[in-house]
Amino acid sequence: MSDVVVLITGANRGIGFELTRQYLINGCIVIATCRDKNRNAKLISLNDEYSGKLFIESMDITCPEQIERLANKLSEQNVVIDLIVNNAGYLDRENQSIQFINYADAEMSFKVNSLGPLFLTHCLLPLLNKSRLSKIVIVSSAMGSLSKEQAVSWYGYRMSKAAANMLVVNLSKELEASNVAVVAVHPGWVQTDMGGTSAKENVIDSAFGIMKVVSLLSISHSGTFYDFSGDELAY
Ligand SMILES: NC(=O)c1ccc[n+]([C@@H]2O[C@H](COP(=O)([O-])OP(=O)(O)OC[C@H]3O[C@@H](n4cnc5c(N)ncnc54)[C@H](OP(=O)(O)O)[C@@H]3O)[C@@H](O)[C@H]2O)c1
Repeated sequence: MSDVVVLITGANRGIGFELTRQYLINGCIVIATCRDKNRNAKLISLNDEYSGKLFIESMDITCPEQIERLANKLSEQNVVIDLIVNNAGYLDRENQSIQFINYADAEMSFKVNSLGPLFLTHCLLPLLNKSRLSKIVIVSSAMGSLSKEQAVSWYGYRMSKAAANMLVVNLSKELEASNVAVVAVHPGWVQTDMGGTSAKENVIDSAFGIMKVVSLLSISHSGTFYDFSGDELAY
């Protein structure tokens, strides 16, 4: 059986780096994307250990030209992608009330958290379709849930994650016939630059949980919103 090929965005730090590390340990081929492949010492250090299995590619998820360029490159190399993990994420720099909303932050949240995964899926679909059962994961957030009762805050982030959830629901319906399973996964509140040091979960457990959800995923679960422990969440 050929190796499973996983493409992970935002792979240079946080949850994305840990997913990269653990998928490599599991024997997968990982296409690890980050904004600048030459400036990521942590990722580059994995190269020695996993040469021939790890491919580091530069891609800013807010730049459609860069997304297209990577998709074309992979297509020319006849790459078959089994799994895309849309992990790159952006949280507004400050939590501001509606009186002081920062337009640029809200716009960036949408570009990174919702439009990026949308366009990446569009560009990589031909490569996903070459796999027998391919999967798309959007690393979403419970903060994007419309039904969960929670404090009002972080407008750009919450709205963009709700939009990402809608992307999952839409894609799951449109891609069902092509056997592409799509899910949203909340990684928990995780100790990363974004989650901060008071967060409850460590990256190792979060990444492990996300990978377990992915491994159990079949087309019949497509369109579901899970948390990293495998519990279903309400949109
Ligand atoms: N940590 C939590 O508690 C938590 C909770 C719920 C959901 N999440 C979600 O989990 C995912 C990973 O978060 P994390 O905690 O690991 O965050 P993180 O440590 O802050 O890492 C964010 C990653 O996203 C990348 N990124 C940001 N903007 C990008 C862009 N324009 N193009 C390409 N990559 C970009 C960053 O790359 P650079 O290094 O180049 O900036 C970095 O690799 C995100 O989608 C986040 O929303 C996290």
